Amino acid sequence: RIYTMVDKETCIACGVCGAACPDVFDYDEEGISQSILDNNSGDMLVPTSFIDDVLDAYDACPSESIKVSKQPFHSNPNISE
Ligand code: F3S
Repeated sequence: RIYTMVDKETCIACGVCGAACPDVFDYDEEGISQSILDNNSGDMLVPTSFIDDVLDAYDACPSESIKVSKQPFHSNPNISE
């Protein structure tokens, strides 16, 4: 069980996450990534079938902007959007 979101402040629009996991990560007009599961709030459980790809994106992101947690992110005021 994991939750995920993108730290849009640190994303450098490298494009790796969308390649690794297009069902979860997509880009805004500036090429900055976001989770399309839940409008990047990080509050929706990642569907089981996408977990491996999300973790691949997490490992591959060069700026460590993919955030993964076992808790919904809104419970952490420092990371919410
Ligand atoms: Fe940004 Fe990292 Fe994805 S830099 S585009 S969140 S792989």
